[in-house]
Amino acid sequence: MSVRRLAEQQPPSFEFSPDNRAWAEKLIAKYPKGRQASAVIPLLWRAQEQHDYWLPKAAIEKVADMLGMNRLRVLEVATFYTMFNLSPVGRHFIQLCGTPPCHVKGAPALRKILEQRIGPQQKVSADGKFSWLEVECLGACCNAPMVQINNDYYEDLTDENFARLLDDLAAGRPVKKGSQTGRVSSEPTPGKGTTLTDAALYDGSRVGAWKKRFEEEQAKAAEAARAAEAAKAAAAAAPAAPTNAAKPDAPAAAPAVAASATAPAPAQAAAAASPAATGVAPGAPTHEAKDRVAGADAEREAKAAAEEAHVKEKLAALPKDATPEQKANAVGARPVGLAAARGGVADDLKRIKGIGKVNEGRLNELGMFHFDQIAAWTRDEIRWVGAYLAFPGRIDRENWVEQARVLAVGGETEFSKRVDAGEVATSAGGPSRPDKVK
Ligand code: FES
Repeated sequence: MSVRRLAEQQPPSFEFSPDNRAWAEKLIAKYPKGRQASAVIPLLWRAQEQHDYWLPKAAIEKVADMLGMNRLRVLEVATFYTMFNLSPVGRHFIQLCGTPPCHVKGAPALRKILEQRIGPQQKVSADGKFSWLEVECLGACCNAPMVQINNDYYEDLTDENFARLLDDLAAGRPVKKGSQTGRVSSEPTPGKGTTLTDAALYDGSRVGAWKKRFEEEQAKAAEAARAAEAAKAAAAAAPAAPTNAAKPDAPAAAPAVAASATAPAPAQAAAAASPAATGVAPGAPTHEAKDRVAGADAEREAKAAAEEAHVKEKLAALPKDATPEQKANAVGARPVGLAAARGGVADDLKRIKGIGKVNEGRLNELGMFHFDQIAAWTRDEIRWVGAYLAFPGRIDRENWVEQARVLAVGGETEFSKRVDAGEVATSAGGPSRPDKVK
C-alpha cells in the first residue's frame, strides 16, 4: 500500500455540475434525518468522476459541507480507499493488484513493465496517457495476475500480452477486456493441470447437478433456435432462389444455406417449395411465393417485437444509469470474442445489411471480426448484443444472423452485392480495424 496524500497542486474551488448537484440532493434525501453521512462514498465517487477521476481537497470539503460532516472525517474516507485518487491520473489509469495470488502468478514482472514504460507509480506519463498504482486484491484472484484499467478488468496477464495491451491503449486501438487468454470466467486454463481431477465434480453426480441441467437446457434451446432459423431461411430462399425476383434483399437467397447438410428442416422446406412441387416455373413470382415472403417478414417482425418487449421488461428493473454492459448482462450472455481478427484479416461486417461503420467498430471491440462468429450467435447472445448496442429486436428484424450464415460460406446477398459494387454509401470502406488488416 502506498502513502496517500493530497496532491500538491490544488484547484482553488470545486462545485458539482447542475446535473450532479440535483443527483446528489436526490440521493441525500433518501437517508433518514441525521443519517446523511451515509451518502459520503457515492458523493465522493461522483465528484471524482466529474473531476477527471481525481479528488481535489475542495471537492472533499464540498462533500463534507453538503452532508454536514466534519471535513476531517471525509478526508479520512477519501484517503482510506484506494478507489479515490488524490492526485491527477492518466487517461488510462492502471491499478495493479499486488496481493499474494497475483504476486505469485507474475505481478512483480508486470510492475517492472509499468515502471519501465510509465515511470514510478502515482505519476502521470509525459504524454498524459498513463499512470499506475499498486493496490490490494481486486477480487479476481482466480484469473491472476490482473490489473484494472479505468473501470475494466484485464486478467490472465503475461509479460507479453500486458505489453501488447499497453501498446494498443497507447495507439488508441480497441482492446479486449477480461481474460487475455480466452477464458470466459475462472474455469480451468485449457491444457493446464488442475487439482480438481475427480470427474464426479463435473458430471453432476456429486456437485454441480444444477450446472449439468442448465447446460442441457441451454444446448436444447440453442438447437431449437438454430433449427427454427434454418427453417425460416429455407422458406424464404426456396421460392426466390432461381431469380431472386420475389424478394431482392432476402439474404437467404444463397443456395448454399438451403442446401446445408446440417439443416434437415430447410431441405424439406426447399423440396416442398420446389418448382416440381409447386408446378410453377422457376423465378415466377407467384402469389403463393409472395405470400410466403410476406409471411416470413411478418414472422420476423413479430419475433423482433416480442424480443423488444422481453428486453424492455428486463431493463425496466435496472437503475437509470446502468451501463450498456450491465443492461446487456441483464438480458443475455456475451458472445465469446477473439482478441484479434484471425490471420490479422477481419471480414467486412458492413456487407451485412444493418451494420454500418459505427456498429462494425463496436462489434470489433467485442471481439467480433468474422461472419461465422455472428452466424453462430445463440438467442442469448443475440439478446446481449442487441441490448449492448441499444437496439433490441433489430438484429432479428434485419436478419443479421441469417445474412452472416450466407456470407460465412462465401455466398452473397443482394445487399452484399450492392456493397461490393460500391452502391451503398454507409458501407463504404474496408473493415473498421485497418490496424488488424494486413
Ligand atoms: S490477489 Fe489479485 S485479484 Fe485477488
